[in-house]
Amino acid sequence: MERPYVLIVSEVTIDGKLTLARGVSSKEIMKLMDDEANKYLHQIRAECDGIMVGANTVRIDNPNLTVRCVEGENPIRVIPTSTGDIPLDSNVLNTEVAPTIIAVSERAPAEKVREFEERGAKVVVAGKERIDFPLLLARLKELGINKLMVEGGSKVNWELLRNDLVDEIRLIHLPVVVGGDDVPSLTSGEGFGSLEKVKRFKIKRVFRCGNQVITEYVRF
Ligand SMILES: NC(=O)c1ccc[n+]([C@@H]2O[C@H](COP(=O)([O-])OP(=O)(O)OC[C@H]3O[C@@H](n4cnc5c(N)ncnc54)[C@H](OP(=O)(O)O)[C@@H]3O)[C@@H](O)[C@H]2O)c1
Repeated sequence: MERPYVLIVSEVTIDGKLTLARGVSSKEIMKLMDDEANKYLHQIRAECDGIMVGANTVRIDNPNLTVRCVEGENPIRVIPTSTGDIPLDSNVLNTEVAPTIIAVSERAPAEKVREFEERGAKVVVAGKERIDFPLLLARLKELGINKLMVEGGSKVNWELLRNDLVDEIRLIHLPVVVGGDDVPSLTSGEGFGSLEKVKRFKIKRVFRCGNQVITEYVRF
């Protein structure tokens, strides 16, 4: 099945965390990012046809996922939620600002699907109980998304990596340590567990961007 080129882009702390504490919006820690890092991030948004974040990131961060800081068109926002559990006043459902695809599984209530469509979102069904990511990416390709940026969170990152659907990872390293056993890091899930199974990447580029270090990896 054909799929878009998939690029995970994330802000991570020295200890690989995505946010300050479980359930806390990453908008807090992103206040540490300077203008140069924000431009880097938004430039990637402008170069992609689609931008995906998990439903939990929408519930916690309520992001806009639009291009600001640089010139460029907003990518199509893609939100995977097996149950359709996205608050109807979420910024991603403001489809006058940018187009949105809500991806649901077959168990999402019809009423919820109707409410998303009423707000101008396109609803794509991919998977029975949970989102089937290989199927979803094939549908996104059919819908004209050739380059998909994924901005987390850790569960969605893991699902994509587990299914071998990630071509590139770019990390904006914030020079702070957060700590905490249950604070989300770049990925979660059951883990690969052995050297034979780990997902391998090659270093593509490492550079300083303002107060941050940026690392870019491509699949091995
Ligand atoms: N630093 C950064 O760059 C960055 C970026 C993004 C997010 N974050 C932070 O990351 C945290 C959220 O991450 P998270 O890992 O809790 O959630 P997440 O990856 O954003 O979203 C996970 C949700 O996706 C939905 N989903 C649908 N199909 C799935 C499948 N097959 N497998 C797994 N999930 C599926 C589920 O919601 P349903 O129950 O609706 O199906 C699940 O709860 C927040 O604190 C946020 O601030 C940080």
